[in-house]
This record gives sequence, C-alpha cells and structure tokens, in this order.
Amino acid sequence: MESKLRILLDYSAKINREKNVDKILPILADLAKNLINADRCSIFIYDKNKNKLWTIVAHGVERIEIPADKGIAGYVFQTGKEVVVEDAYKDPRFDKEVDKQTGYRTKNILAVPLKDRYGQTIGVFQAINKLNADNFSKEDLDLLRHVALYASTTIETKDLYQKLKKAHEDVIYRLSHATKFKDPETQNHIIRVGLYCAVLAKEIGWKEEDIEIIKLAAPMHDIGKVGIPDRVLLKPGKLNKEEWEIMKKHTIYGYEILKGSDSKLLQVAALVALEHHERWDGTGYPYGKKGEKISIYGRMTALSDVFDALTSKRPYKPAWSLEKTIKFIKENKGKHFDPDLVDIFLKNVSDFIEIKERLKDEEPELENIPRDFDFFY
Ligand SMILES: [Fe+2]
Ligand SMILES: [Fe+2]
Repeated sequence: MESKLRILLDYSAKINREKNVDKILPILADLAKNLINADRCSIFIYDKNKNKLWTIVAHGVERIEIPADKGIAGYVFQTGKEVVVEDAYKDPRFDKEVDKQTGYRTKNILAVPLKDRYGQTIGVFQAINKLNADNFSKEDLDLLRHVALYASTTIETKDLYQKLKKAHEDVIYRLSHATKFKDPETQNHIIRVGLYCAVLAKEIGWKEEDIEIIKLAAPMHDIGKVGIPDRVLLKPGKLNKEEWEIMKKHTIYGYEILKGSDSKLLQVAALVALEHHERWDGTGYPYGKKGEKISIYGRMTALSDVFDALTSKRPYKPAWSLEKTIKFIKENKGKHFDPDLVDIFLKNVSDFIEIKERLKDEEPELENIPRDFDFFY
C-alpha cells in the first residue's frame, strides 16, 4: 500500500505541473496502469455524432473505435455500471473483434463509467490484464474508480475549454467583419490572413500560444474601417487625395479601438491594425515606419493580407494568378515586405495555397469600375 501511495503522490505532482489538458489523460492512464498493475489501460470517450466510443488514450494500440453498445466498454457505457470480468472469453458481452485485429489476448477486464457532473455517462475507463496475479482485486476497482473521477473532470474541462475557444474565435471573426455590408472583403479573407500568419509564425519557431495569438489578432487588421464614412468606403471608383487621407485613418481607428487592453491578444491586434499598411522601406502608412520599427505582427499581416487580396476575386478586380502574385511579392521583397518573411513565404507557398483552397469564397460579380491598387487590400 505504501508503494501505491508513492505512485499516487508522484502522479499527482505530474498532473499538477501539467498545463496542457490534452496531456493529462495519458498521465491518468499511466497512473491507473501502475497503480493497479494492469498491462494496459484505455480511456474511451463517447462521440454523439457517430454513436461510437473511441479511445482518447490507449496503451499499446492505435486509436480504437467501437459501436457504443458493443463489448464490455459498450455495456458499461449503456448501463453506467462498473464491470469486473475474470475471463473475457467466457463473457458473452466481450467482443473478440478488437483482439483479432490487434493480435492481443485479453484475459481479464476492469471497466468503470466516466460520468459528468450531471451524472451522465460520457465515457469508459478500462484496464486490461492484471499483472503478477490472476485477477484484479476489490482494491483495484476502488483505485480505478478514483482515477476515473479525475479523468471525468479532465474530459469535462477539456470540453469546456474547447467550447470557450470556439466561441472566442467566433466572436473575433464576426466582429472583425463588422463592415460586412460595406466592404467587399469576405469573412474567409479575414480568417485566411490569420492562418497564413500562423504558418509564418510556426516556421519562425514561435511557441504554440504565440502562434494562436497572431492567428486571431491578424483577422482584426481592418476593424477600424467601421470609422470610415460611407462616402469614402462605399465610393465606386478611385479615391481622391482627401478621400485617401480619410481611408488611411482606418489603421489609427483600429488601433484606438483595440489598444490599452491587458490581453496580449488585443495588444497584438492593436499593432496589427495600426501597422498592416506600413512597408519595409518606409513608404507605407500611417506613419511611414521602416524595417524592424514595424512590429513582426504588422509585417506578417502585411504580407498575408496582400497575398490573399491579390489572389482573390473582388467586385473591382479579377483574382491574380499564383504566378503573378508570387512575382509581385518577390519584386517587393525588401520594398513593401520584410525580406526574411518573403523567403519564409516562398518556402511555404504550398501551405498558403492549401488554406486558400480550403476556405474558398463565393465568387463576386465583377462591376467594371476602376480602383486604386492600394484599395485592393
Ligand atoms: Fe487595411
Ligand atoms: Fe484585409
């Protein structure tokens, strides 16, 4: 018992140190395996859409997917009851199919339901084959039940976190597109710009959380357009000098909307809004910042935004071919764009194309009204 306590304490420390919820379930499976001396443990989660149970963690095998009413796991899931099986091949509930596929020989099984805080069964925690003894004991069942409680909480937290993340993204994408009735740019354009920036950031070697930040900050680049009067934003055809000066202010308006928050995401988004029209050689706006005086966020967004705008069809212009766009970006290396980012872009063009293909726009009607080139993005 003392050694079991040791195992429990060691694993508790591991779990407490782990910030990533996804990594906690494998730790819990290992904990159960060591604690009750099982050969293998697996954690099944219920997939409502497919009506199947699948292993989010499974020792010794790849992902397993089974019908939600088949086998011991299916029985536990359906009934919400714990099951102790001493000889699997004598138990009619046991499904020999998985053993057949994996070449493993199941002898005995302990399986307990995973329940959410409303008592609803959301999965199954299963241990297979007792080592160093003929069968699992009553104490093993108690311990497994204990670990399963942790697993249930972890799964619920993970689920909640995913829902929150999804809602967060949704709000950002929708608010970034607040000018949707006035601006021919599409919601997919906004999402794509963020994803291209994420490709660049990943290639530079940024941490996962920083990649996530630029992915969500870049879509807010044109949020300041809500402050541009309709006579400018909706003007068909080219803008005169005075109108351009007004148009350029969308960068500062965006910055004003987003600045001053404690959130790193909004701080980055404020810079993106302010700097996405600055150019490496200092000929951009609003301040004519040069080179690395422009934040990396602004530089990444500038390149991603232009790539997407040029390759997209807009009411006032056809889509440029990939060749023409790449040629343009190469010609502007060190002029409009950060030269290092252009090199990274050129190495990863296939990722950009994949994103563009995956998040296609509906084709707008061409309206045949000439526009300024700067109006393209
Ligand atoms: Fe802009
Ligand atoms: Fe844009």
